[in-house]
Amino acid sequence: MITKCLFPVAGYGTRFLPATKAMPKEMLPILNKPLVQYGVEEAAEAGLSNICFVTGRGKRAIEDHFDISFELEQQISGTGKEKQLEGIRNLIESCSFSYTRQIEMLGLGHAILTGRKIIGDEAFGVILADDLCLVEDEPGVMAQMVKLYQQFRCSIVAIEEVPKDQVHRYGVIDGEVLSGDLIRVTDMVEKPDPADAPSNLAIIGRYVLSPDIFDIIENTEPGRNGEVQITDALMQQARDGCVIAYKFKGQRMDCGSVEGFVDATNYCFERLAKEQS
Ligand code: UTP
Repeated sequence: MITKCLFPVAGYGTRFLPATKAMPKEMLPILNKPLVQYGVEEAAEAGLSNICFVTGRGKRAIEDHFDISFELEQQISGTGKEKQLEGIRNLIESCSFSYTRQIEMLGLGHAILTGRKIIGDEAFGVILADDLCLVEDEPGVMAQMVKLYQQFRCSIVAIEEVPKDQVHRYGVIDGEVLSGDLIRVTDMVEKPDPADAPSNLAIIGRYVLSPDIFDIIENTEPGRNGEVQITDALMQQARDGCVIAYKFKGQRMDCGSVEGFVDATNYCFERLAKEQS
């Protein structure tokens, strides 16, 4: 049983400066809901109700969001506005929240290792909240991946095809096709030049990791950009045939970039308008 989901949220969000100078990127809203709440809802839907944040300086707003806001709630109690807090209240009641700080931003692999004490010796989900994953009429992406973990018992990474000229922004995989949407990973490169990329299958911000990943990260040298890359650690598991890449069902929007954020906002607004018509 997987019950824990790690949210690395310590990054600086430089692509969104100046908005992210004093506010966490993960609190940027798509319509009226912050990105991080979409991520926690996806984890909860997958049965991962122990939510673990790897935070950094300037991220307090995330802790406050997953807490009651006493004065505000008193003020709107008994009015129609109470309804707008229903979703977040349900989430707070159904999940537990833990926080640990990454003191130096040494990369995603390092952020995940920082969560080791909270996660312990069990498999866990990882959600990068700035990758917004929306699914219609299916379980969410994390729920799809947890099901696969139960089948394969090894690390699962979510992938999608990206245009060749975009591969330099992602970890890119190669491997042996097991079925239409499953690949056993044999190679993995972090942010390759398009000419060196093994494919155009990019890893997006959803992982289920087996706990041996922690020892591997500990022994992983800093890679691209001097950061400890999760891709390099996963490559070690892949050499033993223990990483499955999954072409998930649904749509992913890169809300860490201004363009992707605007696309996601438009998409959600149109969806809302359709629901209300
Ligand atoms: P990004 O590459 O999107 O970096 O990190 P970033 O700092 O958030 O954003 P930009 O590129 O400067 O605009 C991917 C995820 O990994 C987390 C980030 O918070 C984000 O969710 N991360 C990255 C950490 O928690 N710690 C790190 O040291 C690096």
